[in-house]
Parts: sequence; C-alpha cells; structure tokens
Amino acid sequence: MSQLPRRAYRLDHLPPYGFAVLGQRIQDMTAAGKDVIRLDIGSPDLPPSEAVIEAFKRSASNPHHYQYGSYRGDPAFREAVAAYYKRRFGVELDPFHEILPLIGSKEGLVNLAVAYIDRGDAAIVPSIAYPAYMMGTIMAGGSVIDMPLDPDNGYLPDFDAIKGDLSHAKLLWINYPNNPTGAVADLAFYERAAAFCREHNLLLCSDNPYCEIVFDGYQAPSALQAAGAKDCTVEFMSVSKTYNLAGVRLGACVGNAEAIHNLLNVKSNIDSGHWKAIYDAATYAINNTSQSWIDERNLRYQARRRRILDTLPHIGLEAFESPATLYVWARVPDGDDESYARAALEEAEVALTPGTIYGIAGAGYVRISLTMPEERLDAALARLRDWYRVRVA
Ligand SMILES: Cc1ncc(COP(=O)(O)O)c(C=O)c1O
Repeated sequence: MSQLPRRAYRLDHLPPYGFAVLGQRIQDMTAAGKDVIRLDIGSPDLPPSEAVIEAFKRSASNPHHYQYGSYRGDPAFREAVAAYYKRRFGVELDPFHEILPLIGSKEGLVNLAVAYIDRGDAAIVPSIAYPAYMMGTIMAGGSVIDMPLDPDNGYLPDFDAIKGDLSHAKLLWINYPNNPTGAVADLAFYERAAAFCREHNLLLCSDNPYCEIVFDGYQAPSALQAAGAKDCTVEFMSVSKTYNLAGVRLGACVGNAEAIHNLLNVKSNIDSGHWKAIYDAATYAINNTSQSWIDERNLRYQARRRRILDTLPHIGLEAFESPATLYVWARVPDGDDESYARAALEEAEVALTPGTIYGIAGAGYVRISLTMPEERLDAALARLRDWYRVRVA
C-alpha cells in the first residue's frame, strides 16, 4: 500500500479559508434542498456593461488571441491603468516599471509576501482584515504583527500603538475603503502611514479594490496621492468590483518600481499571465466606462444598503452608515457573532459573514453584503425579521 509523504509544515499553520468553510456548509444545505440566500459574499451580482461584454467577444473571436502573453502583461492594459490613475487621482505611473497585472488582486496580495517575507520576517496586519494579508505572510514562513483597528477611531490604526519588535517587519497592510468595516481614510491618513513606513523601512501595501464603490458623493483617495508615496508604497487595484468583473480575475499592483520588479520575479516563475480577451475587456472597461454608469450602479447598492440599515433595528443589529464598500458591518446584540450567524443560517436560511472570519477583533459583528438582487434581498430581510421575532420572544 502506498503512503503519501507528509504535507508541508507550513500548512500546519495555515487555517482553512473561512469563506471556503462557510461556502461548503451552505452547499451542503443547498444539496439538502434548502433555499439559502447568501448575504455573506461580496461578488457583484450586477453584470458588466454590454459594451464590455462585446469587447470580450470581439477579442475572443480573434484566432491570434490564444497564445501566451508577456509576463509583464498586456501593454494596452497597463497604459489604461496608468491613464486611470492620472485621471482619477492625479498620480503619474510608468506603465512599464510601475504597473503589474495580477490574477485578481488576491493573487498579488499573497505573492507580494512571497517576494518579501522570509522565515523570521514579519508583516504588520490590521486586527480586522481581509484574510489574504495574514495567509500570505504565514505561507511565506513569516509572522504577523497585529495592528489594532479601533472602532472609536473610525477603524483607523494608531501606528504608534503597534506593539512588538518592528525590526523584522517588512510589509504594512492597509485597506480603505475597508472590507469588512466600511471605514474610509483620507489623504492625511495616507501621509501618516507613509511617514511611519519610511521611519521603519517598511513597504506600505494599500489594498484599494473598493475605491469606486462609494455613496453620497464620497470620493475615495489613493495611497499614492500622498507626497512622495511611491518611494515606499504599492497599491492594489482591481476590476472585480469597479466594473462588475470579479469572475475574470484581473487586478494590478501599482507604485514602487523595485517592489513591482520583485513581485514580477515571483509571478513570472509561477504564472503566465492572462488571456488576451480578458485584458481587452478590462482595458475597454477602464478606458470607456462612464462616470454615470458607475454612479447608477452605486445608487443601486446605496438603495440596498438603505433597506438593510432600515431592517437592522428589527433584527437586533446596529451599524453606522458607511460611505463606501459593498458591506454593512453590524454589531450583534450579545457580542456573539458566530452564534448569531449560525442561527441565521440554520433557522432563517440567510447566510451572513461572522466578523471573526476577519480576525478575533471582528468578534461581535456580522458583515452583510449588498450584492443580492433587490427581490431576493427583501426576501432575506423578511426572513431575518421573522426569525428574530421568534428568537427574542
Ligand atoms: C479587501 C479586499 N482585497 C482584495 C480582494 C480580492 O479581490 P480580487 O482578487 O477579486 O481583485 C477582495 C475581495 O473581496 C477584498 O475584499
């Protein structure tokens, strides 16, 4: 009988991906005939524009578009990202040295850790965070230094309050507009973050996939707008949420040329880039999407957010009205997010994300996603109301 070799020790420290575990539980329920409504995931339900789908079809029907591309990525896509950063943030980027396409920003978040973190190194990670920052660090063999996010400080970190030996820290992660809390940061915050990173020889890593999911006239800045930011900063952008293209898996790492060179070194040894049709559809989206298309899409999210916020008092939750992102971050009455989310799933058949998926500091909150068509969203909210009425009776 053959015996498999032992798995790598690094996997002993790598917890299963929280969303994969939750997703499996939901699949099991669905297989058992339950009609679960998923308010737990942030995958845009609305389609990309017709014109973007047409650009994809046009490119896909070109028989010359089926070869390997370059490791640096399609030049037209990099030019489009540069033009977007100039137009939107006033930031100049060199498309060759300062922009690198990614297989969705998630891939780059993890591979940047491979590029920078050795055993004994550390990354500074917010206490409530998208899991990839921590998981990438662990997979690379490094350790995590916790950076507390205080709700009373708008979920912004106090850099001077970070505890631990920073001498081995190499990366500092931030994410505004923030998943899951919906918190936002201004330019002064990015200036402070860059100053702290310069002082401690850190690469500032700004994960910014929600900068176009904004409400009530709010405009999200880029970390690269801070004075001289490119000397210590990279930013991750993504077409997933901005253009409703999450399934095509395309983002980019932009900013500091040396960091981008190191990330390219890792990636060119791992992947071979994208299919041209993906680049062409995304390039079309970046170059041609009108502000009114984005505004109208955001108004739909905003109306859904209103429906959710209006329901919260009837289901024992409280939240602030965030000016950005696809989520409502709501406080659970008795502070036990896991049992609230479990009961909502099992008894109301509505999936919410327990805050602890984003770290222990997320305990006591659930995240509710805006990416559900209105009719299903209303059905989910009605179920939650009925369920909660019985729960507290
Ligand atoms: C904060 C944050 N960063 C990165 C990602 C990954 O986005 P993508 O890989 O689709 O670009 C997500 C996805 O939900 C996210 O919430």
